[in-house]
Amino acid sequence: MMDSSHTFGILVLMTPFYIGLLSSIVILSVPAFASNTSCNFLAIFNFGDSNTDTGADSATFSLVTPPNGETFFHMPAGRPSDGRLTIDFMAERFGLPYLSAYLDSLGTSFIHGANFAVSEATIRPSDKSRTGRGPSPFYLDVQVSQFQQFKSRSQLIRNGGEIYTNLLPEEKCFGQALYTFDIGQNDIALGLYNNQSLEEIKADIPDVINKLSKNIQAVYGLGGRSFWIHNTGPLGCFPYILTKFPVSNASDIDKAGCATPYNELSQYFNQKLKEAVVEMRKQLPLAAITYVDIYSIKYLLMSQPQDFGFQQPLVACCGFGGKYNFTNTARCGQTVVVDGKPTFIGSCANPSVRVNWDGSHLTEAANKFIVDQLVTGKFSDPPIPLQNACNRDESSA
Ligand SMILES: *[C@@H]1O[C@H](CO)[C@@H](O)[C@H](O)[C@H]1NC(C)=O
Ligand SMILES: *[C@@H]1O[C@H](CO)[C@@H](O)[C@H](O)[C@H]1NC(C)=O
Ligand SMILES: *[C@@H]1O[C@H](CO)[C@@H](O)[C@H](O)[C@H]1NC(C)=O
Ligand SMILES: *[C@@H]1O[C@H](CO)[C@@H](O)[C@H](O)[C@H]1NC(C)=O
Repeated sequence: MMDSSHTFGILVLMTPFYIGLLSSIVILSVPAFASNTSCNFLAIFNFGDSNTDTGADSATFSLVTPPNGETFFHMPAGRPSDGRLTIDFMAERFGLPYLSAYLDSLGTSFIHGANFAVSEATIRPSDKSRTGRGPSPFYLDVQVSQFQQFKSRSQLIRNGGEIYTNLLPEEKCFGQALYTFDIGQNDIALGLYNNQSLEEIKADIPDVINKLSKNIQAVYGLGGRSFWIHNTGPLGCFPYILTKFPVSNASDIDKAGCATPYNELSQYFNQKLKEAVVEMRKQLPLAAITYVDIYSIKYLLMSQPQDFGFQQPLVACCGFGGKYNFTNTARCGQTVVVDGKPTFIGSCANPSVRVNWDGSHLTEAANKFIVDQLVTGKFSDPPIPLQNACNRDESSA
């Protein structure tokens, strides 16, 4: 704001020069967009699952309770972690406020974007009812349909003035927003929960990716131009998977202690996603689509934790029992009876050196590590930093 009014003052004083400058800007603006420039994103719109849920599931199905949030927010903050999630650290990088969950009715502001991610969400709908770890009804089509309504209704309401001008985004935000996707882990995990064979799960993945593409295209149709797409993490490195679906053959456990067959499902998902991104770049000529290899960042952290000051990456910091400090019936935040005494399942002593928070989600420290890596562009295709995510991949044009 300060910057633009300052610039305006100079422009008024130097009008003839400004006109000359403006024409050169117009000429240069097309190549400038297609090259490697820093982007001035006004908003973030996020779609996903619990990896980026900043309060949706907590406001609807299952209240997030202590010790979640205790590291950073010093109270539960709707997030399944001791602190911030990757999407929080990404918002920080842009100087934008943390995203409110669209499904949260209390204390929300959407002036710089909205978060449509919901824990347990899948890309494809599932007819399985929500039992325990069942899928969320807010699968990706629903999230994108909510975004579609948000886009039009927010403008109607904002035009009514009053407090809404401070709570809802300006129209121009939609074109100058970063659209982020982090979803798919639950589609694979659900296959395991539904007792599908690895081959059956694999056979479903192209259709899952197809549905993800359709939704990205839908957001493009609604004016989205900059897309930042996270691939899926190494499923076989998570306590909830290792505990519930132990592999019987020792040769299926890799050096990091992860289950190779499940990681191969994630890798196959990622391969298909990468192919889909290449296709989408052809179909959506005005879009900048960055594919981000979250799998490699997470696997790096889980396989070489000591290199980055972390410990016990496959053991839950907040859990109870078993090889991975995780049991389905005694979860983080619950109270269990141990030796006749009620015992609260709280945080481990030092979550800042731990990777896994509660068996299925990561600690704030791990989330920070991930974002510190992904901002560099080293794990992106094309290899552009987060700040430059409005830039199209020239090589694919
Ligand atoms: C999968 O198999 C297990 C063990 O046989 C069974 O307890 C469970 O109900 C099955 N799940 C589904 C969704 O069929
Ligand atoms: C374990 O896996 C290896 C490699 O895939 C295979 O050669 C071996 O037969 C398997 N062992 C059992 C007991 O299934
Ligand atoms: C397992 O979880 C408990 C909380 O129930 C925690 O106190 C303990 O430190 C955790 N164990 C490890 C190895 O992190
Ligand atoms: C884009 O610019 C950044 C610095 O802002 C640089 O680190 C990066 O290597 C550049 N990427 C490409 C693909 O040119």
